[in-house]
Amino acid sequence: MTVIRTAISENTVAARKALHAGFELLEQLPLPSVRRRRSSRQALDRVVYNLIERRRRDGAEGGDLLSLLLSARDADTGDGMDDTQVRDEVLTIMLAGHETTANALTWTFHLLGRHPEVAAALHAELDTVLAGRCPTVADLPHLPFTDAVFKESMRLYPPVWAMSRYLVEDRIVGGYPLPAGSTLLLSQWVVHRDGKWWPEPERFDPSRWIGDRVDPHRPRYAYFPFGGGPHQCIGNSFAQTEGVLALATISRRWMFEPVAGLQITPEPLVTLRPRDGLPMTIRRRD
Ligand code: HEM
Repeated sequence: MTVIRTAISENTVAARKALHAGFELLEQLPLPSVRRRRSSRQALDRVVYNLIERRRRDGAEGGDLLSLLLSARDADTGDGMDDTQVRDEVLTIMLAGHETTANALTWTFHLLGRHPEVAAALHAELDTVLAGRCPTVADLPHLPFTDAVFKESMRLYPPVWAMSRYLVEDRIVGGYPLPAGSTLLLSQWVVHRDGKWWPEPERFDPSRWIGDRVDPHRPRYAYFPFGGGPHQCIGNSFAQTEGVLALATISRRWMFEPVAGLQITPEPLVTLRPRDGLPMTIRRRD
Protein backbone atom coordinates (compact mmCIF):
# COMPACT_ATOMS: atom_id res chain seq x y z
CA MET A 1 0.00 0.00 0.00
CA THR A 2 2.86 2.37 0.90
CA VAL A 3 4.52 1.68 -2.48
CA ILE A 4 1.30 2.58 -4.30
CA ARG A 5 0.65 5.68 -2.19
CA THR A 6 4.22 6.98 -2.64
CA ALA A 7 4.19 6.39 -6.39
CA ILE A 8 0.85 8.14 -6.85
CA SER A 9 1.95 11.15 -4.80
CA GLU A 10 5.34 11.49 -6.50
CA ASN A 11 3.87 11.17 -9.96
CA THR A 12 0.79 13.37 -9.58
CA VAL A 13 3.11 16.23 -8.65
CA ALA A 14 5.23 15.45 -11.71
CA ALA A 15 2.26 15.20 -14.03
CA ARG A 16 1.28 18.75 -13.12
CA LYS A 17 4.82 19.97 -13.83
CA ALA A 18 4.64 18.16 -17.17
CA LEU A 19 2.42 21.01 -18.37
CA HIS A 20 5.37 23.39 -18.04
CA ALA A 21 7.83 24.04 -20.87
CA GLY A 22 11.13 22.21 -20.49
CA PHE A 23 9.75 19.43 -18.29
CA GLU A 24 10.97 16.64 -20.56
CA LEU A 25 14.51 18.04 -20.52
CA LEU A 26 14.50 18.33 -16.72
CA GLU A 27 13.34 14.73 -16.43
CA GLN A 28 16.64 13.64 -18.08
CA LEU A 29 18.74 15.21 -15.30
CA PRO A 30 19.86 13.20 -12.26
CA LEU A 31 17.89 15.44 -9.88
CA PRO A 32 16.81 13.92 -6.53
CA SER A 33 13.11 14.43 -7.41
CA VAL A 34 13.57 12.71 -10.80
CA ARG A 35 15.40 9.79 -9.16
CA ARG A 36 12.71 9.48 -6.48
CA ARG A 37 9.99 9.40 -9.11
CA ARG A 38 11.79 6.84 -11.22
CA SER A 39 12.39 4.51 -8.28
CA SER A 40 8.78 4.84 -7.04
CA ARG A 41 7.55 3.98 -10.56
CA GLN A 42 9.85 0.96 -10.67
CA ALA A 43 8.59 -0.19 -7.26
CA LEU A 44 5.01 0.16 -8.47
CA ASP A 45 5.85 -1.79 -11.64
CA ARG A 46 7.29 -4.58 -9.51
CA VAL A 47 4.06 -4.81 -7.49
CA VAL A 48 1.94 -5.04 -10.64
CA TYR A 49 4.29 -7.45 -12.51
CA ASN A 50 4.30 -9.72 -9.45
CA LEU A 51 0.50 -9.80 -9.45
CA ILE A 52 0.46 -10.60 -13.17
CA GLU A 53 3.09 -13.31 -12.84
CA ARG A 54 1.31 -14.97 -9.93
CA ARG A 55 -2.03 -14.93 -11.71
CA ARG A 56 -0.55 -16.29 -14.96
CA ARG A 57 1.29 -19.03 -13.00
CA ASP A 58 -1.73 -20.11 -10.97
CA GLY A 59 -3.93 -19.88 -14.05
CA ALA A 60 -6.61 -18.87 -11.57
CA GLU A 61 -9.88 -17.39 -12.71
CA GLY A 62 -9.86 -14.64 -10.10
CA GLY A 63 -13.26 -13.37 -11.22
CA ASP A 64 -11.79 -9.88 -11.13
CA LEU A 65 -10.45 -7.26 -13.49
CA LEU A 66 -6.96 -8.77 -13.66
CA SER A 67 -8.39 -12.11 -14.81
CA LEU A 68 -10.50 -10.31 -17.41
CA LEU A 69 -7.47 -8.44 -18.73
CA LEU A 70 -5.38 -11.62 -18.90
CA SER A 71 -8.08 -13.53 -20.72
CA ALA A 72 -8.96 -10.69 -23.15
CA ARG A 73 -8.24 -11.52 -26.81
CA ASP A 74 -7.95 -9.28 -29.84
CA ALA A 75 -11.09 -9.89 -31.91
CA ASP A 76 -9.09 -9.95 -35.19
CA THR A 77 -5.84 -11.71 -34.28
CA GLY A 78 -6.88 -13.75 -31.25
CA ASP A 79 -3.74 -12.53 -29.42
CA GLY A 80 -3.76 -11.73 -25.73
CA MET A 81 -1.95 -8.77 -24.15
CA ASP A 82 1.69 -9.01 -23.15
CA ASP A 83 2.75 -8.16 -19.57
CA THR A 84 3.58 -4.54 -20.41
CA GLN A 85 0.13 -3.94 -21.90
CA VAL A 86 -1.58 -5.59 -18.93
CA ARG A 87 0.56 -3.48 -16.56
CA ASP A 88 -0.48 -0.30 -18.39
CA GLU A 89 -4.16 -1.23 -18.16
CA VAL A 90 -3.89 -2.14 -14.46
CA LEU A 91 -2.12 1.11 -13.62
CA THR A 92 -4.61 3.20 -15.61
CA ILE A 93 -7.54 1.69 -13.77
CA MET A 94 -5.74 1.88 -10.43
CA LEU A 95 -4.71 5.52 -10.80
CA ALA A 96 -7.71 6.85 -12.75
CA GLY A 97 -10.17 4.91 -10.63
CA HIS A 98 -8.78 5.05 -7.12
CA GLU A 99 -7.27 8.49 -6.69
CA THR A 100 -10.31 10.30 -8.13
CA THR A 101 -12.99 8.55 -6.09
CA ALA A 102 -10.94 8.78 -2.88
CA ASN A 103 -10.49 12.46 -3.64
CA ALA A 104 -14.22 13.05 -4.16
CA LEU A 105 -15.05 11.33 -0.85
CA THR A 106 -12.38 13.32 0.97
CA TRP A 107 -13.87 16.64 -0.13
CA THR A 108 -17.38 15.37 0.58
CA PHE A 109 -16.48 14.74 4.24
CA HIS A 110 -14.75 18.12 4.38
CA LEU A 111 -17.91 19.85 3.16
CA LEU A 112 -20.22 17.83 5.42
CA GLY A 113 -18.04 18.73 8.40
CA ARG A 114 -18.47 22.41 7.63
CA HIS A 115 -22.21 22.21 6.93
CA PRO A 116 -23.82 20.39 9.85
CA GLU A 117 -27.31 21.16 8.50
CA VAL A 118 -26.49 19.25 5.28
CA ALA A 119 -24.93 16.42 7.32
CA ALA A 120 -28.13 16.24 9.43
CA ALA A 121 -30.31 15.97 6.29
CA LEU A 122 -28.00 13.24 4.93
CA HIS A 123 -28.13 11.29 8.20
CA ALA A 124 -31.95 11.63 8.30
CA GLU A 125 -32.25 10.11 4.80
CA LEU A 126 -29.85 7.27 5.65
CA ASP A 127 -31.63 6.50 8.95
CA THR A 128 -35.05 6.41 7.25
CA VAL A 129 -34.08 4.39 4.18
CA LEU A 130 -31.52 2.00 5.67
CA ALA A 131 -32.86 1.72 9.23
CA GLY A 132 -29.40 0.73 10.44
CA ARG A 133 -28.39 -1.80 7.78
CA CYS A 134 -25.64 -1.51 5.17
CA PRO A 135 -26.70 0.00 1.82
CA THR A 136 -26.81 -2.04 -1.39
CA VAL A 137 -27.17 -1.03 -5.03
CA ALA A 138 -30.93 -1.63 -4.70
CA ASP A 139 -31.11 1.26 -2.20
CA LEU A 140 -29.65 3.84 -4.60
CA PRO A 141 -32.98 5.02 -6.11
CA HIS A 142 -34.17 5.72 -2.55
CA LEU A 143 -31.14 7.83 -1.61
CA PRO A 144 -31.61 10.98 -3.75
CA PHE A 145 -30.13 13.33 -1.15
CA THR A 146 -27.02 11.16 -0.65
CA ASP A 147 -26.60 11.11 -4.43
CA ALA A 148 -27.01 14.90 -4.53
CA VAL A 149 -24.41 15.40 -1.77
CA PHE A 150 -21.83 13.49 -3.81
CA LYS A 151 -22.70 15.40 -7.01
CA GLU A 152 -22.61 18.78 -5.28
CA SER A 153 -19.29 17.95 -3.67
CA MET A 154 -17.78 17.20 -7.10
CA ARG A 155 -19.22 20.49 -8.35
CA LEU A 156 -17.29 22.48 -5.74
CA TYR A 157 -14.23 20.21 -5.54
CA PRO A 158 -13.98 18.37 -8.86
CA PRO A 159 -11.33 15.64 -8.39
CA VAL A 160 -10.14 16.40 -11.94
CA TRP A 161 -10.09 20.19 -11.72
CA ALA A 162 -8.92 20.78 -15.31
CA MET A 163 -8.12 18.77 -18.41
CA SER A 164 -6.31 19.61 -21.60
CA ARG A 165 -6.82 19.16 -25.32
CA TYR A 166 -4.22 19.60 -28.06
CA LEU A 167 -5.54 21.15 -31.27
CA VAL A 168 -4.58 19.18 -34.38
CA GLU A 169 -6.17 21.77 -36.70
CA ASP A 170 -7.06 25.48 -36.62
CA ARG A 171 -10.33 26.10 -34.82
CA ILE A 172 -12.53 28.99 -33.71
CA VAL A 173 -13.75 28.41 -30.18
CA GLY A 174 -16.19 30.89 -28.62
CA GLY A 175 -15.20 33.44 -31.28
CA TYR A 176 -11.45 33.08 -30.58
CA PRO A 177 -9.31 31.80 -33.46
CA LEU A 178 -6.96 29.11 -32.14
CA PRO A 179 -4.11 27.75 -34.27
CA ALA A 180 -3.28 24.07 -34.63
CA GLY A 181 -0.69 23.08 -32.02
CA SER A 182 -2.39 25.07 -29.23
CA THR A 183 -3.10 23.39 -25.91
CA LEU A 184 -6.52 24.18 -24.45
CA LEU A 185 -7.22 23.92 -20.75
CA LEU A 186 -10.82 23.24 -19.76
CA SER A 187 -11.37 23.74 -16.07
CA GLN A 188 -14.11 22.04 -14.11
CA TRP A 189 -13.19 24.19 -11.10
CA VAL A 190 -13.91 27.41 -13.03
CA VAL A 191 -17.04 26.31 -14.93
CA HIS A 192 -18.62 24.62 -11.89
CA ARG A 193 -18.38 27.92 -10.00
CA ASP A 194 -19.78 30.11 -12.79
CA GLY A 195 -22.68 32.16 -11.39
CA LYS A 196 -24.26 32.15 -14.88
CA TRP A 197 -25.25 28.49 -14.38
CA TRP A 198 -25.05 28.12 -10.62
CA PRO A 199 -26.92 30.56 -8.36
CA GLU A 200 -24.81 31.28 -5.24
CA PRO A 201 -22.05 29.21 -6.81
CA GLU A 202 -19.85 29.02 -3.69
CA ARG A 203 -22.67 27.60 -1.58
CA PHE A 204 -22.67 23.86 -0.79
CA ASP A 205 -26.32 23.17 -1.53
CA PRO A 206 -27.10 19.54 -2.54
CA SER A 207 -30.82 20.32 -2.90
CA ARG A 208 -30.03 22.17 -6.15
CA TRP A 209 -29.83 18.66 -7.67
CA ILE A 210 -33.30 17.62 -6.57
CA GLY A 211 -36.79 18.00 -8.12
CA ASP A 212 -37.80 21.40 -9.47
CA ARG A 213 -34.60 23.02 -8.18
CA VAL A 214 -32.83 21.40 -11.18
CA ASP A 215 -32.45 24.07 -13.88
CA PRO A 216 -33.71 22.49 -17.15
CA HIS A 217 -31.87 25.16 -19.18
CA ARG A 218 -28.46 24.53 -17.70
CA PRO A 219 -26.14 23.42 -20.53
CA ARG A 220 -24.82 19.85 -20.45
CA TYR A 221 -21.25 20.98 -19.89
CA ALA A 222 -21.92 23.38 -17.02
CA TYR A 223 -21.03 20.28 -14.96
CA PHE A 224 -18.44 17.83 -16.27
CA PRO A 225 -16.56 16.12 -13.42
CA PHE A 226 -16.15 13.09 -15.70
CA GLY A 227 -15.10 15.06 -18.78
CA GLY A 228 -16.94 14.56 -22.06
CA GLY A 229 -16.65 13.47 -25.68
CA PRO A 230 -14.80 10.39 -26.91
CA HIS A 231 -12.49 10.34 -23.88
CA GLN A 232 -15.19 10.76 -21.26
CA CYS A 233 -14.43 8.79 -18.10
CA ILE A 234 -15.20 5.10 -18.59
CA GLY A 235 -15.72 4.78 -14.84
CA ASN A 236 -18.42 7.48 -14.73
CA SER A 237 -21.41 5.41 -13.59
CA PHE A 238 -19.25 3.05 -11.55
CA ALA A 239 -17.70 5.98 -9.65
CA GLN A 240 -21.06 7.64 -8.92
CA THR A 241 -22.42 4.29 -7.65
CA GLU A 242 -19.30 3.48 -5.65
CA GLY A 243 -19.06 7.02 -4.25
CA VAL A 244 -22.68 7.16 -3.08
CA LEU A 245 -22.52 3.67 -1.56
CA ALA A 246 -19.27 4.47 0.26
CA LEU A 247 -20.69 7.77 1.50
CA ALA A 248 -23.86 6.03 2.73
CA THR A 249 -21.95 3.14 4.34
CA ILE A 250 -19.61 5.46 6.25
CA SER A 251 -22.11 8.19 7.14
CA ARG A 252 -24.66 5.68 8.41
CA ARG A 253 -22.38 5.14 11.43
CA TRP A 254 -19.90 8.01 11.54
CA MET A 255 -19.78 11.78 11.44
CA PHE A 256 -16.82 13.97 10.63
CA GLU A 257 -16.06 17.24 12.39
CA PRO A 258 -13.51 19.83 11.29
CA VAL A 259 -10.50 20.59 13.47
CA ALA A 260 -11.14 24.06 14.90
CA GLY A 261 -9.06 26.81 13.31
CA LEU A 262 -7.46 24.52 10.72
CA GLN A 263 -7.41 25.99 7.21
CA ILE A 264 -7.76 23.39 4.42
CA THR A 265 -6.15 24.43 1.13
CA PRO A 266 -6.84 22.65 -2.17
CA GLU A 267 -3.72 21.74 -4.10
CA PRO A 268 -4.32 21.53 -7.87
CA LEU A 269 -2.10 18.64 -8.99
CA VAL A 270 -3.50 16.26 -11.62
CA THR A 271 -6.25 15.75 -9.08
CA LEU A 272 -7.37 18.22 -6.45
CA ARG A 273 -6.01 17.14 -3.07
CA PRO A 274 -6.05 18.96 0.28
CA ARG A 275 -2.48 20.27 0.51
CA ASP A 276 -1.62 18.85 3.96
CA GLY A 277 -4.25 16.13 4.12
CA LEU A 278 -7.56 16.47 5.89
CA PRO A 279 -7.35 15.96 9.66
CA MET A 280 -10.86 15.62 11.09
CA THR A 281 -12.46 14.37 14.29
CA ILE A 282 -14.53 11.26 13.68
CA ARG A 283 -17.43 10.39 15.96
CA ARG A 284 -19.72 7.40 16.10
CA ARG A 285 -23.33 8.38 15.53
CA ASP A 286 -24.96 5.75 17.73
C1 HEM B 1 -15.10 10.39 -8.94
C2 HEM B 1 -14.40 9.59 -9.72
C3 HEM B 1 -13.84 9.92 -11.06
C4 HEM B 1 -13.65 11.13 -11.68
C5 HEM B 1 -13.97 12.52 -11.14
C6 HEM B 1 -13.07 10.88 -12.97
C7 HEM B 1 -12.77 11.86 -13.91
C8 HEM B 1 -12.30 11.60 -15.18
C9 HEM B 1 -12.13 12.60 -16.22
C10 HEM B 1 -12.40 14.09 -16.08
C11 HEM B 1 -11.66 11.96 -17.32
C12 HEM B 1 -11.40 12.59 -18.71
C13 HEM B 1 -10.02 13.13 -18.84
C14 HEM B 1 -9.86 13.78 -20.19
O1 HEM B 1 -10.73 13.70 -21.04
O2 HEM B 1 -8.81 14.42 -20.41
C15 HEM B 1 -11.52 10.55 -17.00
C16 HEM B 1 -11.05 9.59 -17.86
C17 HEM B 1 -10.88 8.26 -17.50
N1 HEM B 1 -11.31 7.65 -16.34
FE1 HEM B 1 -12.18 8.55 -14.77
N2 HEM B 1 -12.90 9.53 -13.12
C18 HEM B 1 -13.36 8.89 -11.99
C19 HEM B 1 -13.40 7.53 -11.74
C20 HEM B 1 -12.93 6.57 -12.58
C21 HEM B 1 -12.99 5.13 -12.34
C22 HEM B 1 -13.66 4.50 -11.12
C23 HEM B 1 -12.36 4.52 -13.39
C24 HEM B 1 -12.14 3.06 -13.66
C25 HEM B 1 -12.69 2.09 -13.02
C26 HEM B 1 -11.91 5.56 -14.29
C27 HEM B 1 -11.22 5.34 -15.45
C28 HEM B 1 -10.95 6.31 -16.40
C29 HEM B 1 -10.26 6.05 -17.66
C30 HEM B 1 -9.70 4.70 -18.12
C31 HEM B 1 -10.23 7.27 -18.35
C32 HEM B 1 -9.63 7.54 -19.73
C33 HEM B 1 -10.71 7.45 -20.79
C34 HEM B 1 -10.18 7.75 -22.19
O3 HEM B 1 -9.21 8.51 -22.32
O4 HEM B 1 -10.76 7.25 -23.15
N3 HEM B 1 -12.27 6.79 -13.77
N4 HEM B 1 -11.94 10.36 -15.69
